[in-house]
Amino acid sequence: MKRILPSESDFPANGSDLEKLRFLVEYAVLAPSSHNSQPWLFITHDHNLALHADRTRGLPVVDPHDRELVISCGCALFNLRVAAAHFGVPLHIVRNPDDHEDRLANLSIDLQAGRHDTLAELFVEMPRRVTNRFPYQPGSVSADDLHALAELCAAHGVTLRSYTDDASRHAIAERIAEADKQQMASHAFRRELAGWLHHNRSGSLDGMPGYVFGFSELASLAAPLVVRTFDLGEGQAARDRELAEHSPALCILSTNADHHLDWIRTGEALQHLLLEATRRGLAAGFMNQPIEIDRLRQDLAQHVGARFPQVLLRLGKPTREAKATARRPADAVTIDAGLHENYRAFQGF
Ligand SMILES: Cc1cc2nc3c(=O)[nH]c(=O)nc-3n(C[C@H](O)[C@H](O)[C@H](O)COP(=O)(O)O)c2cc1C
Repeated sequence: MKRILPSESDFPANGSDLEKLRFLVEYAVLAPSSHNSQPWLFITHDHNLALHADRTRGLPVVDPHDRELVISCGCALFNLRVAAAHFGVPLHIVRNPDDHEDRLANLSIDLQAGRHDTLAELFVEMPRRVTNRFPYQPGSVSADDLHALAELCAAHGVTLRSYTDDASRHAIAERIAEADKQQMASHAFRRELAGWLHHNRSGSLDGMPGYVFGFSELASLAAPLVVRTFDLGEGQAARDRELAEHSPALCILSTNADHHLDWIRTGEALQHLLLEATRRGLAAGFMNQPIEIDRLRQDLAQHVGARFPQVLLRLGKPTREAKATARRPADAVTIDAGLHENYRAFQGF
């Protein structure tokens, strides 16, 4: 499925605030999200835009508290900020307004708002960034890379810990393998995952085509049925252990608290890290499994001395290019506030 990218020349430079904000959504949707569920909704109200969590796209088995769902929305918010910086749109953002359960941020154009020119440098990386699940070249991440990435996470209030030595990578890889076995042994987990797996030529605008895992055409056709039916945990654990132990760096993002605002900030830090890594020629792959199981999350937290681990990544120069996945277009995820109220009433919220 070829991804349709926004065209810069369509930016409505002479348009209204709302037209500009709506245009920026075209870049927000390029963000990563768990299972490519794209759990975001942009609601327009007067001249403003609000980012909402679309909990109808939640993953109740792997992400029962919608933690990764909100992190994914934080990634979309960061993309929107990068696009705003590129087009010279001064953005005023209020995160977690009124502690609203679904509304994660209010966005408006405010000429008094500070400019973030450095973010504009990351604009070209947004369409280039993809999750890469293939092996990485040994030793391909420098101490300078890791230092720079940690600094930019810290600016979002998020701590980045990186591990490059054998003993640390082995200890984390063991936890990833244990989590794989536990998750794959669960029929509910496998059924949920299978629902987001698609064959390579599927026209689906969300979920994951088999090619992201390196599956052939035929394997991608069989994948949803195989995943749903068989517990392939041992094989998955062995593959992930190998990948993790041989990744140039394993990185853990963590926060000091575990509320909505921490998850939004984690998403922004994560996307900042991913775009900067792309700029440096590095790829990233997610190994969140041990953070998705409460007991293993606590164990990992104790092991690395973090309060609340949020995301576990591997980083390095890839041995093989990864292809992009599809997205729902901005129009499909942007609605008017009046319509949203009708929709909620209709759904019985
Ligand atoms: C919060 C979050 C958690 C994720 N967890 C995993 C994971 O555990 N395993 C994995 O292979 N990919 C994971 N991903 C990557 C998504 O599957 C990926 O972003 C999505 O399929 C879209 O593909 P793209 O990143 O190449 O654009 C995660 C992404 C996010 C934002």
